[in-house]
Amino acid sequence: MQAYVEKAFLDNNIERISNKYGLQIVDMAPTSKYYFTYDKNGLSFIKDSQNPKEVLNVNFLKGKLGWRLKRTNHESNLKKALGKSKEPLYIFDATAGLLSDSMIFVSLGHKVFAVEQSRIIYLLVKDGIRRAEASIPFLNNLKLINANSINAYKEVDTSFDVIYLDPMYPMLKKNIKKSGEISAVGSILEIENLIDDQDFLIKSFMNESFKKLILKRPLKSKKIYSNINYQVKGSTTRFDIYI
Ligand SMILES: C[S@@+](CC[C@H](N)C(=O)[O-])C[C@H]1O[C@@H](n2cnc3c(N)ncnc32)[C@H](O)[C@@H]1O
Repeated sequence: MQAYVEKAFLDNNIERISNKYGLQIVDMAPTSKYYFTYDKNGLSFIKDSQNPKEVLNVNFLKGKLGWRLKRTNHESNLKKALGKSKEPLYIFDATAGLLSDSMIFVSLGHKVFAVEQSRIIYLLVKDGIRRAEASIPFLNNLKLINANSINAYKEVDTSFDVIYLDPMYPMLKKNIKKSGEISAVGSILEIENLIDDQDFLIKSFMNESFKKLILKRPLKSKKIYSNINYQVKGSTTRFDIYI
C-alpha cells in the first residue's frame, strides 16, 4: 500500500513505519483506490481516492474523544459497567477499534491490554498515541497490539479482571450513513478482507474463563445469552455484564 508524503513531511517516523509495514512512500497523490497520507496531522487513511477529503485520522487531544477524556467523571455508564473496585482493574479490550473506550478506561486509572485485528486501524491509532504521548500521562497504562484477540487472549499469560467486547453492531444501512467513523472502520475491514463475525467473537470469549465480561450492544438488540448478571443502559447502547 502507498503512503503519500510531501517532501516537507518526510521524517524518521514515517520512514520507520513504511519499512516495518511495507508501505511505499510516494510524493504525488496516489491513483490507487485507497492509501495513507502523512502530514502535519500525522498518519491518516483515505479509503476512496475519488473522495480524498474524507480522511480517517485518530486524534486523542481534540474533538469528541478529547472532550470526553477531559471529563471522565461524566462516564457514568462505563464506570457502572466496570463496577466499584479499590484497586485499578486490568482490562482486556478485544475490539480496540479507534480506542475510544480503552482511552476512557486508562484515563479512569485502569490498565488496558487492547487488541485490534486491522493493520490499517492499528497504524492510525498507534500514530494517534504517538502524537498524544507528551500530553496524556496515563498512556503508559495502555498496551495495544495488532492481532486477532481470540488468539491473543489464549496466548497472553496474564489474568485479566475484565474482558471488554464492543463488536461492530449489525450494520443497519441508516447507521452506516450516520456515523462517518464507524462507516470508515467498516470499509477498512472490507479492504483488508477481515470478516467481522461478531457471533463467533462473542461465543469464543463466552467459552473462555473470565472474572467479568462486558458486552456493549445497541440498546434494543436481543439478549444473546440469558445468563446476563446485570445491565447498564444508556440512551442508545447498553452494557450486558456477565460474571
Ligand atoms: C465497533 S469497533 C470498536 C470500537 C471501540 N470500542 C472504540 O471505542 O473505538 C469494533 C472493532 O473490533 C475489531 N475486531 C473485531 N473482531 C476482532 C478480533 N477478533 N480481534 C481483534 N479485533 C477485532 C474490528 O476490527 C473493529 O475495529
